[in-house]
Amino acid sequence: MAIIYNESKKTFSLQTLNTTYQLKIGNLNYVKHLFYGPRINDEDLIYLIRRYDRGFSGNPYDSLKERTFSLDAQPQEFTTQQQGDFRINSIEVQNADGSFSFNGRYVSHKIYSGAFTLNGLPTAFATENDTVDTLEVVIEDAVTHVAVTLLYSVFEEKDIIMRAARVHNGGEGMIRLKRIMSMNMDYLNGQNLDLISLPGRYGQERQVERQMLTHHVHKIRSGRGISSHQQNPFIALAERTATEEYGSCYGFSLMYSGSFLAEVELDQYDQARLVMGINDRLFSYHLEAGEDFDTPAVLMTYTHKGLARMSHRYHDFFRDNLNRSKFVMDVQRPVLLNTWEAAFFDFDDVKLLKIAKAAKDMGVEMIVMDDGWFGKRDDDNSGLGDWFVNENKIKCGLPSLVEQINALGMKFGIWFEPEMVSEDSDLFRAHPDWAMEIPGRRAVRSRNQLALDVSRREVQDYLIESINRILDSANIYYVKWDINRAITDLWSNDLPGDQQGEVSHRYVLGLYRVMDGIIKTHPDIMFEGCAGGGGRFDPAMLTYFVQYWSSDNTRPLDNLKLHYGSSFVYPISSMGAHVSTASPMVPIETKAAIAMCGTFGYELDATHLSEEAVARCKAMSDLYHKYYDLNFFGDYYRLANPFEPVNLVAWETRAKDMREALVTVVTVNLTMNGPQEYIKCKGLIPDQRYRVEGDGNVFFASGMALMHAGIPIPREVPEFTAFMYHLTAVE
Ligand code: GLA
Repeated sequence: MAIIYNESKKTFSLQTLNTTYQLKIGNLNYVKHLFYGPRINDEDLIYLIRRYDRGFSGNPYDSLKERTFSLDAQPQEFTTQQQGDFRINSIEVQNADGSFSFNGRYVSHKIYSGAFTLNGLPTAFATENDTVDTLEVVIEDAVTHVAVTLLYSVFEEKDIIMRAARVHNGGEGMIRLKRIMSMNMDYLNGQNLDLISLPGRYGQERQVERQMLTHHVHKIRSGRGISSHQQNPFIALAERTATEEYGSCYGFSLMYSGSFLAEVELDQYDQARLVMGINDRLFSYHLEAGEDFDTPAVLMTYTHKGLARMSHRYHDFFRDNLNRSKFVMDVQRPVLLNTWEAAFFDFDDVKLLKIAKAAKDMGVEMIVMDDGWFGKRDDDNSGLGDWFVNENKIKCGLPSLVEQINALGMKFGIWFEPEMVSEDSDLFRAHPDWAMEIPGRRAVRSRNQLALDVSRREVQDYLIESINRILDSANIYYVKWDINRAITDLWSNDLPGDQQGEVSHRYVLGLYRVMDGIIKTHPDIMFEGCAGGGGRFDPAMLTYFVQYWSSDNTRPLDNLKLHYGSSFVYPISSMGAHVSTASPMVPIETKAAIAMCGTFGYELDATHLSEEAVARCKAMSDLYHKYYDLNFFGDYYRLANPFEPVNLVAWETRAKDMREALVTVVTVNLTMNGPQEYIKCKGLIPDQRYRVEGDGNVFFASGMALMHAGIPIPREVPEFTAFMYHLTAVE
């Protein structure tokens, strides 16, 4: 059992292999947070909490004359409002009588084996190798009978705790949730914590920022209706001294694809509080008597062994526990060529076949027909929503095109942008009210398109039906599912005016229903997500997509940063990355080495390549397969940080048994007559001898030497040279 309830102490210890999370039913039945850190035994850590009479931090009425008990200074599991805790909190609810009070006290709990699931929202699952137990703690307001169930699923071997909250309106009238966070995490001492987040923008997603906590509320959020390019629903809190190898790190990754919020506050007593969940901006949700509301889940991990270990925890978990598709573990993903940067909208069946024939010699195994094959779609101003084949372009028809591609020994993939509609489309002409637009106003256009109101059932059903019809009409192996604008003009014609605060969340729930109806019903198709690149790259999406297009930016040097930042939480096997014709000064081999820090493929017109270039691509496609297991299933280490003024950027993937590794080094800034540079490997067996092959040489060295002295990197080489060192254990 990964969860120990100590009846006499009233403590719950959530035990993973290497961590302990402890909570306690405390005085006045408030649920206290006591500890999250390295694994300890079942001991009551209440001694950590000292109480003082704090000025201006009030006391709950039933603490009577006891002036040292204030929620403003106590660490808690779910933080309440109007009870003297002035910090950021978990819930804001307007009760049936109009008041804004919620005073949740423990009423019951239960422990069971297996992971919790949520209504309409994706969660992680237990594999047959995992020990998973769940704790549910119910707190309730004695006046309104609004109850919140705190959910904790403990993935013992994975060192991951999945959390969420479920609100139940047990009262008689309707209540309005104005804010409901998935989790609250209190730190008794937050003085020496740094906040790490992954901000970015279109074309430059998931860069890394690390800042000291100061005495205010740090907000990381998206209000764009998608998890966004600008912020990712992941943050870490790390000790100021924490590095890749050492120090305490706490990771929080929210399984949600819409507008989200993470707030971290360093309070007046230098305690830190973190909350994470659905963005409360433009949000309010009606709950009738007897109804429930589920928040999305947060995946939480802790390690005292540094940032690399934190990332490994997420990589393993995202690979094993999010997506049951055979393309995650069992079936090698083919080398694909995507037609977007090859042809944009300018193609027909003949051109696609020409590209396919030429691409075959590059080792390409699948052709993906991107945007432009449907409706009236010759540019990005029209056609979205009309999910039927444009037979002026695909003259032979889709089934025949796919057959001809298959006859070349290649697989076929196709692009959709389901959630969008062009005003110039049959769908919009038939159903103008399906677009998200506020009555009496014109909606914001973005890429000259509107968002469909995916919160509506009839819209969902149309998408499921029209897209499945295409998927079932031909031998389709792969789908790229795109979205190319943020969501504005929140309004649904299905809801009354006073429930419009629900639209943003209902859109996300509707989207998950559409994806269930398309993706989960096609287990033999490999699905990749995309949002103008990586604008909706989050763990909820990874329960549907085995990979996510990282960025529309295919410039290899920019991708060094993108991969580095993404790797804090996402595994290589989830990051779509292609070789393109961008950055002509960078050799194909370097572009390919960088794309192998991702799922690898091409984004170019194969008919324009010289024979020599085709042969070089073929060699790189072969390498992708050669190193597939290492890259997709090994442990990934960041070796040199591209955000610093380095001359080399480097990373390593190492087999779980530590007997094989691939170290990739890209020379980004070699100065004339400069120093000899070394790259130090990580995660090797110290006294094991390794054969190291790379840069045209072979040498032998111990793991200790490779980790602490490193590999000397040749310097008299052309700019942007990549070296791939293959390390294998020898006796
Ligand atoms: C987005 C995607 C691209 C491509 C275009 C097509 O920008 O990220 O890869 O599919 O849409 O319109």
